[in-house]
Amino acid sequence: MEHVRQHPDRRLVLQSAMAAVVAMMGPVGYAGTSRPPLGFTAVPASLRDAVVVPPEYEYQVLYRWGDPTGIGSSLPAFRPDASNTAEDQALQAGMHHDGMHFFPLGSDGRRALLVLNHEYTDEHQLHADGAAPLTAAKVRKSQHAVGVSVIEIERLPSGWRQVLPSGYARRIHARTPMHIAGPAAGSALLQTAADPSGREVLGTLANCAMGVTPWGTYLTCEENFHGYFGADKSRGGTSDAAARRYGTTPGGQWVDWYRFDESFDVLKHPNESHRFGWVVEIDPMDPTSTPIKRTALGRKCTESATCTLTRDGRVAVYMGDDARFEFIYKFVSRDRVRPGGYAANRDLLDHGTLYAARFDASGQGAWLELTNGDNGHADQAEVLVHARLGASARGATPMDRPEWVAIHPRTAEVFVSLTNNSQRGAPGRPAVDAANPRANNLGGHIMRWTEAGADAAATTFTWSHFVLAGDPAVPGTDTRYPSPQADAFGAPDGLHFDSAGLLWIQTDMSGQAIGKGTYANLGNNALLCADLATGSIKRFLTGPNGSEITGCVVTPDRSTLFVNIQHPGETSDSGGARANSAWPDGSEPGSARPRSAIVAVRRRNGGAVGT
Ligand code: FEO
Ligand code: CA
Ligand code: CA
Repeated sequence: MEHVRQHPDRRLVLQSAMAAVVAMMGPVGYAGTSRPPLGFTAVPASLRDAVVVPPEYEYQVLYRWGDPTGIGSSLPAFRPDASNTAEDQALQAGMHHDGMHFFPLGSDGRRALLVLNHEYTDEHQLHADGAAPLTAAKVRKSQHAVGVSVIEIERLPSGWRQVLPSGYARRIHARTPMHIAGPAAGSALLQTAADPSGREVLGTLANCAMGVTPWGTYLTCEENFHGYFGADKSRGGTSDAAARRYGTTPGGQWVDWYRFDESFDVLKHPNESHRFGWVVEIDPMDPTSTPIKRTALGRKCTESATCTLTRDGRVAVYMGDDARFEFIYKFVSRDRVRPGGYAANRDLLDHGTLYAARFDASGQGAWLELTNGDNGHADQAEVLVHARLGASARGATPMDRPEWVAIHPRTAEVFVSLTNNSQRGAPGRPAVDAANPRANNLGGHIMRWTEAGADAAATTFTWSHFVLAGDPAVPGTDTRYPSPQADAFGAPDGLHFDSAGLLWIQTDMSGQAIGKGTYANLGNNALLCADLATGSIKRFLTGPNGSEITGCVVTPDRSTLFVNIQHPGETSDSGGARANSAWPDGSEPGSARPRSAIVAVRRRNGGAVGT
C-alpha cells in the first residue's frame, strides 16, 4: 500500500476503453498472433462503486471485514455500527484483506483453506464513534483487526461457502505469541524488557503480500511495520541512522498504539521494532502451531516472499522491499528441501544466504551477498536486522517500490512489479537508471529476469522490462506496453501466475491520484490478465470506489479466481470512506459501512478463468 489518503477527484470524465486502446498504440510494436489471445470480454475502466467482471463471468462475496472466522462455537456477528468489541474482532475477519493463498483439502477441489493477510486498519471505520478519542479498548481492537485469517471454504453447486465453524479456522493478529528463529534470534538487537531472550514476540502486523513454501506453509510478510511504532514527536528525534532509514522514529507512526501499549513506543523500547519487518511462517493445517519469524530472510518492509526450487533442490525466496529507492532481495537456503512436509523442513528457512539485486545498464544483473563484515556490521544478526544498510553498502540498485514477485510456472522467468515512485529524479534523489527509467514514475512498471542457467541459485541474471504502465492518453508519460492490444493500467502491485501461465496484474493507484495525471483515464483499481505468448493485457475486473485490488489466487484447476477488495471507500479524511463507497453491503455511498472482502469469480459455463 501507499499510505496516502486524500480526496479522489470525482470530476473525472473517463474516456471510453476503446479510445484508450487506440491512444496507446505506442512506440513498442509486438509480433503477436492473430488468434484471440484471452477469451473473455474485457471490461472498460470504471468509476462505479461496484465490482465489475466480464459478462460471461459471475462473482460472489465472501468473508467481509467483521464476518465470523469460524473459531469453535464463537461466531460473533458483525454489527453494522462497528460496535463489536476487541474480543469479537479477534474472532472475526480483520480489515484490509491483502495477500492470499488457496490450500486444497483433499484432491477433489471441493474443500480448501483460504489464508489471507489483513494489512492495516481504517480507524474511522473500525470504531462506532470513529478514531477519536483514542482509547485502550480501541487500540486493542485495532491490534486484533490486523494479521492473518485462516478460513475453511467448500464448493457447492451454487458456489463457494465458508464453513462455520471449522477446526482449521484461526485468527493470528498483533497479539498472537510467536517465535523468532534464524541467525538474528536471541541477538542483543532483538532483546526487550518483555523478552530478554530475544526469541519470543507478540504479534505480526502490516501483513501485505505473501508466499507459499514447497512444503506447504504460508509466508506472511510484514511490510509497513514502522507505521505502528512511534512516540510523541515533541520528545525529539533520533540520531540512530538505522531507525531513520526504517522510519521507526518519534512522529513517524500512522496510528498511536504507543499511547496505550508502550511496547510500540520507540523511545521506551527501541528494540521492539527490530522484531517486525520479517517474513513469518505459518502452518495453515495446524491451528495450534506457533508462527515463526524467519530472520535469515532479512528485515525490511517485506512485500512478498515468492518461493521456487534451485536446480539442486534448495529453496529460493524472492522478496520486494516496498519503499522508494529500496531493493529486491533473494534468499537461498543452505539445505535441500526434504520430503515430509513442514515437519521435515522446519529449520530450512533458518540457514542460507541473503542477496540484494543490482540491475546493470547492459541488461545483466547480479545478486550481491549480504554478509557479516559489510558496512561495519558487528555480526550477521546486525546485517539481517539492518538489511537495507548492508544492501546499500554493497551497491544494490534502488528501485521504484518493489512489490510482488511472481514466477512463471514453466519458464521460471521471474516478474516483479515496481508500483510507482514520485521521487525518482527529483532534486536530491536518485536519478533515472536503466531499470527505473522514468522520472516522477507514477505509472509504475513490471520487470522480468531469467537467472543464469535458469537456476534460482545463480548469482547473475538477465533482465528486461515487461511493461511501463500509465495512461497512454496523457502527454509526456512515455508509456510503453508490450503490445498494442494492451489495456491501460497504473501502479501495478499484486502479481500472480496461474497454472496455465497467465499473469494476473492487480493495481493500487492511491485514492488521491485516481482520475488525475498519469491515472486520468484508468478508472478505479483493476485486475488485468496478461498473456505472455501474445503480449495481450486485458482488464478483467474493476473494483469499487477507493479500493485496491490484491491477493489474486487462481485455483489449481482454474475453475475459480479468488481476489481481495481492500479498503473500499478509502479517502484521506476522517469518515470519508462512507461518503465514497458502501461496497459490498449497500447500493449507495453512505448507506453502509464499506468492508474489505474476498471475491470469488467463476465463468458462468464453469470453464477455466482467463480463457
Ligand atoms: Fe502493502 Fe506495498 O503494498
Ligand atoms: Ca502491495
Ligand atoms: Ca498495496
